[in-house]
This record gives sequence, C-alpha cells and structure tokens, in this order.
Amino acid sequence: MDPIKERRSIRKYSSKTVDKKLIGEILGAAVLAPSAKNRQPWKFIVYSGSSKDELLAKMETGLTKTREELAHLPDSEYMLSDAFNTLRIMREAPVIIMVLNTNGSSPFMDIGTFARITEICDSLSIGAAIENMLLKATELGIGTLWIANTSYAYNELVDHIGTTAQLIGAVALGYADEAPAARPRKDFGDVVEYR
Ligand SMILES: Cc1cc2nc3c(=O)[nH]c(=O)nc-3n(C[C@H](O)[C@H](O)[C@H](O)COP(=O)(O)O)c2cc1C
Repeated sequence: MDPIKERRSIRKYSSKTVDKKLIGEILGAAVLAPSAKNRQPWKFIVYSGSSKDELLAKMETGLTKTREELAHLPDSEYMLSDAFNTLRIMREAPVIIMVLNTNGSSPFMDIGTFARITEICDSLSIGAAIENMLLKATELGIGTLWIANTSYAYNELVDHIGTTAQLIGAVALGYADEAPAARPRKDFGDVVEYR
C-alpha cells in the first residue's frame, strides 16, 4: 500500500539523470503485469538525451498541426493547451518511455467488434503494466507522469518511432522537483456499491 498511497503525478523534474539499472528495474516490474491470454502486448522504448529531444520536436510538430486542424471545435484549445503543457513537462523529464501495443493498429482505422474487444483487453493489460512501472518507480524514489496527450501528435510520433504498432502513450521518469499533495478522489460511497 505504501507506493500506492505515495505515488503522485509529477509535473516538475530536476535535471538529475535516472540510472539505467533503475530504468531496468521499473521495466522489470512492467512485464510482470497480468495480460489478457498472457499476450503481453506491450513494448517500451526508452528515450533520453538527444533522441528524446528529436522525438519531442516531432511531438511539437504534430500538436501544432492538430491545433490548426481542430481550431473550429469548441473544446480544442483547452485540449491542445493541456497537450502543449504535457510536452513542456516531457522536455523537463530526463527519461521518456514510449509505450506501444504490438497487437494494435492505428486508432484512425475502423475495426470490427471482436477486434475492438481484443484491443480493449490489450489496452487494459498495458494499463496494468504502466501502473506497475509507476509503483516501482515510487518505491525507488523516482517521480512519474502517465501520459496520453501523445495522441494529439499520433501520426508524427509513430512515423518517428518507425512502428506500425499502436501508440498507447508515454511515461515520464525523473527525480521530482515538487511534492504535490494527494489529488482529490470521488467519495468511496459514490464509486462502490454492494448488492
Ligand atoms: C491514461 C492516463 C493518461 C494521462 N495523461 C496525462 C497527460 O497526458 N498529461 C498529464 O499531465 N497528466 C496525465 N495523466 C495524469 C492524470 O492527470 C492524473 O493521474 C490525475 O489527475 C490524478 O492525479 P495523481 O496521478 O497525482 O493521483 C494521465 C493519467 C492517466 C491514467
């Protein structure tokens, strides 16, 4: 329970690098997660230094394009300014781990109902792996941010990564330069029901 209670989304990082051995321990926790039919549909690509800078330059290109394309939608500026804020955080974090679903394909493709069920199960499995990463990192004193705002630069990022797998999102890793209080949760009684 300790890492579960202590974990926070960290949005300010010091410049201290994360030891490769610790990154390995965090990914070692990821791959111990359960997965639907034990498919283990995950792949993790670790970016740091200049390869991270190049990846995030592509993300900026993609977000800028999406901002222009969605400008006519009422909520788009809110969504895109949040995504640009996430990009700023990703630039500050010393390590970004891109997370792929190796069984998945582009979310812009229509898929049938059964393929969707499989995709949901694979997404859940990858979510479990990501949570394991966050908890292991917390135990090691390393801050994390779970990121899905990569989706607003989807095509640019998968092209740059050079993959046909589905991009699920990213995890930022680094030493926290903030100590946020716990974020609010819904009342237990509103989310739990006994019958
Ligand atoms: C699937 C998922 C996607 C998320 N994407 C982002 C993101 O792109 N940018 C960001 O700043 N936070 C992101 N978050 C973090 C949430 O905002 C955060 O978990 C939530 O506000 C609760 O705060 P806590 O993690 O400190 O408990 C994401 C979390 C999840 C689970």
